[in-house]
Amino acid sequence: MDNPSAAARIEFLYNEIARHNRLYYENDAPEITDAEYDALFQELKLLEEEYPDLARPDSPTTRVGGKAADKFLQVKHSLPMLSLENGFSEEDIIAFDERIKRFLGIPAEKVIEYVCEPKMDGLAVELIYKSGTFTQGSTRGDGETGEDITANLKTVKDISKHLKSPAPPSLIEIRGEVYLPIEPFRELNRTREENGEPPFANPRNAAAGSLRQLDPTITAHRPLTIFCYAIGKTEGIKFPSQSKLLETLSTFGLPVNPLIERVSGINEAIKFYNNIENKRDSLPYEIDGVVIKVDDFGMQRELGDKSRSPRWAIAWKFPPRQAVTVIESIIPSVGRTGVITPTANLRPVEISGVIVSRATLHNWEEVERKDIRVGDNVIIERAGDVIPAVVKVLTDKRTGEERIFPRPVKCPECGSEVVKIPGEVAIRCLSLDCPARIKESIIHFASRNAMDITGLGEKYIDQMLRLGIVKSIADLYSITKEDLMKFERMGDKLADNLLNAISKSKNCELGIFLFALGIRHVGEHTAKLLAESFGTLENVITAKEEELLAIREIGPQVAESISEFFNDQDNRVTVEKLLASGVTPSEAKKRIGGRFTGKTFVFTGTLPTLTRNDAQKMVENEGGNASGSVSKKTDYVVAGEEAGSKLDKALQLGVTVLTEEEFLNMFL
Ligand code: IVH
Repeated sequence: MDNPSAAARIEFLYNEIARHNRLYYENDAPEITDAEYDALFQELKLLEEEYPDLARPDSPTTRVGGKAADKFLQVKHSLPMLSLENGFSEEDIIAFDERIKRFLGIPAEKVIEYVCEPKMDGLAVELIYKSGTFTQGSTRGDGETGEDITANLKTVKDISKHLKSPAPPSLIEIRGEVYLPIEPFRELNRTREENGEPPFANPRNAAAGSLRQLDPTITAHRPLTIFCYAIGKTEGIKFPSQSKLLETLSTFGLPVNPLIERVSGINEAIKFYNNIENKRDSLPYEIDGVVIKVDDFGMQRELGDKSRSPRWAIAWKFPPRQAVTVIESIIPSVGRTGVITPTANLRPVEISGVIVSRATLHNWEEVERKDIRVGDNVIIERAGDVIPAVVKVLTDKRTGEERIFPRPVKCPECGSEVVKIPGEVAIRCLSLDCPARIKESIIHFASRNAMDITGLGEKYIDQMLRLGIVKSIADLYSITKEDLMKFERMGDKLADNLLNAISKSKNCELGIFLFALGIRHVGEHTAKLLAESFGTLENVITAKEEELLAIREIGPQVAESISEFFNDQDNRVTVEKLLASGVTPSEAKKRIGGRFTGKTFVFTGTLPTLTRNDAQKMVENEGGNASGSVSKKTDYVVAGEEAGSKLDKALQLGVTVLTEEEFLNMFL
């Protein structure tokens, strides 16, 4: 490449990498896969090595990606949170080992002790513990400055608020990766799709999106967790090695990945990589490689850092779980709530040992945004989801034969007009008689997390519908053995088992029953909340929208959907029929307030991390009252910066005054 074209390419790569950094770190919505990003980055690195005079000091190769977003307060890390150098092959790893030995003047035949760790695909955070108490947590941001997400991190169950230690150090900054395991990720996406919200592309984006919520109560409902793997600044404690550090973090009560191993020599590290790669698909969380770290901290210090990464560690990335294939057709399928989702049938292709023949296209907006056409060559990726997704269309491979698949205007199953509800990305069939909706609603009703009717799978449901034995969930409990014996491949014993399972499901919890009904926007969590708040089915059915809205986590859309469901004559008949067949949802224990029942709080001034609205909702959620003015009846005043007369009044009346931190500690 000549100098001007290299300069132009470098300029292009700078801008492109910066754009993707913004999409990934700030918007939690990357447009390209990690592997594509790595390829851009590698290309830039190689060009800069070849043309050092063209490399700018502000090159992305010298910095760590994200910039702290404005919505959170910024936190300067005491020590920069560096990134890791990437390796992609055994040769890269052997070269890493050789480099280290050369740098340290160690003979080539000697072995170095390494710690090998799965590379978690989540969001890097720093947790500051002062004298054993968690005081502040932040994102990595650009490596120098991150975002203060203390309130959100406090809702992550596995982040201990107090270190388990009789003599904790005066300061320890602990670094780790917050992640969302695969199963909750799928559950979250299922709910989002049902609600007409765009699904997260992968667990990492879901974790990042959840952690950077301005409302910590939203974060609290996402089962995020953490593995800790490094430290920043410490006072009053020193560690000789990475392995000793991890051991201590574990005794402190912080999660450390149990798969981590200390190994002797690079060959053992290579074995570790191969072993973990084999396990990759069976792990309950996403990893994207293995991190190999020199164990000894003395050696680490001697090796030091380059501008964006330490010399003593390398991230050996797994090959991307991607493949190129062709979209053979696009099939619209109708879900239980009538959402019509596009799925792509693919020319079968193997991705890391699995034959893939379908990809989810999520929704029609996505099909249009990515301009996905039948006949297109596409890159697909398996990322934390069973069904892979289309990453990108290879438009330069188009022949002109590709066909645009327009979004349906009629339900593909029942032919009724479809509607797009304002504010939702989904299009829906609203017909309650739509056979696809009926089928999906029975599948949902019988599913494990709902009524748990073991054995009642799609195969039998299809036959029931075909033979006209059931027309809706209400008919399930009137099925007889005679009916079942009409099914293909049905035996005496199997029929008895199925009837038993159906009958057993009659005694259920109210929350489960409400969830099983398949009310739009009512997932497992909301159903449980309804049950706990109203106690009986009758109370839920007759609840007015205002009463529903009084539950902190129920918003107008959900309240409206619940009211609409129970106001619908057909739904009422279904519920009555279920009850008449002997289904008895047990009365749920009413939530008797929370920890603040009867207490009144006043918030004044600007709080460091919470908005006034969030803080008030947090109090109400625990049964307390949030008031606008201080009186003798006020129990607590939470004062932030520039608190004025309300604080004066509180002090005058002797009302307890709290900082935001003290307030948040009341939730621990
Ligand atoms: S150590 C200076 N260990 O990978 C070294 N990082 O590409 C600091 N990551 O920013 C990082 N698993 O977000 C380390 N076991 C692990 C990791 C890990 C995931 C992430 C982390 C880091 C990024 C660098």
